[in-house]
Amino acid sequence: MNGYLNESNFMMVEEGFTTRDLLENVLVELCQASNQQAFFVADLGDIVKKHLCFLKALPRVKPYFPVKCNSSEGVIRLLAELGAGFACTNKVEIARVQNIGVPADKIFYSSPCKQVAHIKYAASHGVQLMTFDNEVELSKVARSHPRARMLLGIAADSSPSAHPSMAFGTTLESCRHLLETAKEQAVEVVGISFHLGSRGLEPQAFARAVAAAQLAFDVGTELGYQMRLLDIGGGFPGTEDTRAPFEEMAAMINSALDLYFPDGCGVEIVARPGRYYVTSAFTFAASITAMEEVPTEQPGSDEEDSGSKKSLVYHLSDGIHGTFSCLLFDSPCPSPQLHKRPCPDHPSHSSSLRGPPGHVEDHIADGLELPELQVGDWLIFKDMGAYTIASSAPLGGCPQPQITYAMSRVAWKAVQLFLGKPPAAEDDRETLCAPLSCGWETAEAPCITPALAPASII
Ligand SMILES: Cc1ncc(COP(=O)(O)O)c(C=O)c1O
Repeated sequence: MNGYLNESNFMMVEEGFTTRDLLENVLVELCQASNQQAFFVADLGDIVKKHLCFLKALPRVKPYFPVKCNSSEGVIRLLAELGAGFACTNKVEIARVQNIGVPADKIFYSSPCKQVAHIKYAASHGVQLMTFDNEVELSKVARSHPRARMLLGIAADSSPSAHPSMAFGTTLESCRHLLETAKEQAVEVVGISFHLGSRGLEPQAFARAVAAAQLAFDVGTELGYQMRLLDIGGGFPGTEDTRAPFEEMAAMINSALDLYFPDGCGVEIVARPGRYYVTSAFTFAASITAMEEVPTEQPGSDEEDSGSKKSLVYHLSDGIHGTFSCLLFDSPCPSPQLHKRPCPDHPSHSSSLRGPPGHVEDHIADGLELPELQVGDWLIFKDMGAYTIASSAPLGGCPQPQITYAMSRVAWKAVQLFLGKPPAAEDDRETLCAPLSCGWETAEAPCITPALAPASII
């Protein structure tokens, strides 16, 4: 084991139950303490599964998890334990992973726009791998970090589905000029990077981007650089209901890599999968703290009748400056489940969810059809692991929700097998478990040599 994660970092749970069961347990405790604070439950076993699937589907690609996507301690510890690297966008994120013990060579300072103070921080903490896509960034790094190893960021996809706000990356036409400027400033360029955005990516976009990256590699090599690293960014789906499933994207990436960067060509491939790893592992619960009724006019209805149909606005203790900041990162509008089962004969109303009262423009969701709820009722949001947990204190004064981490014994055994450590003996394990589970689907990890474990248990 690598020592980043141990059994005290999470609750060991039994098979047969789900994250929802765990959530119910937390809710009982909170209700007993009259506590209405929003909270998460996180199934670390789900992240283990994702990691093993990633390695199986993209065997040549090393994942660097973007810390801005979820900087919670359990996630960072687990991914460090599994050997993943980390992509950081500022010094707070670098410090976060280094405080857990992650070595500098597993950290990629991936932000295209960096503050000079943060570049200096990276330099003094041994973080060398960085990106640039314009001359201003280049000269900042040339002045502040002489040992940086740079990746040139290219805007590789010009298709209509490309994210309109993705300003990251230079054009292929500008590559030569930027690489020549880097040469003049004695900056070491080691490869090419792209990030295609995260909104409903087509698998073909990756193939086009890998092809474009190869052209940029050629320019670098021509200018005398040793080009040995390709970063294919993030954008892999975090749930299964997306237009292109992860496996389809992976198949397309593998064939593009085989064509443009064949095995043995000396180029290492990395990616920055964020939402892929964490979305489905986290479930969020928030209670209603206030509500307002907005009468709606019914077209054609008479005066007396017009009050019977209403719209309801519910305020939660958390909003888009806190957990729901995921809405700013292209995550779909969350549909809550009700904690209490509604009476089937109660009418539903057009309902909206808002952040804490007084926070103007804190719109979480509109147009939901919900039965009438009360202050103190709980709403449950699934798939809330990505872009919901910040590395610094959230804006707007929302307190950070508590996170309860759990992992099933089978998933923990899989981690141990993956890392080449034989799992604990049967008797020792019995004492570690609470009678719950987060639903690891495999019955038992097979008894096989550690080297084969990842591919075999998924
Ligand atoms: C530059 C960059 N890389 C990687 C990611 C990760 O994207 P995702 O979470 O969709 O994998 C993001 C997300 O915003 C990003 O901006």
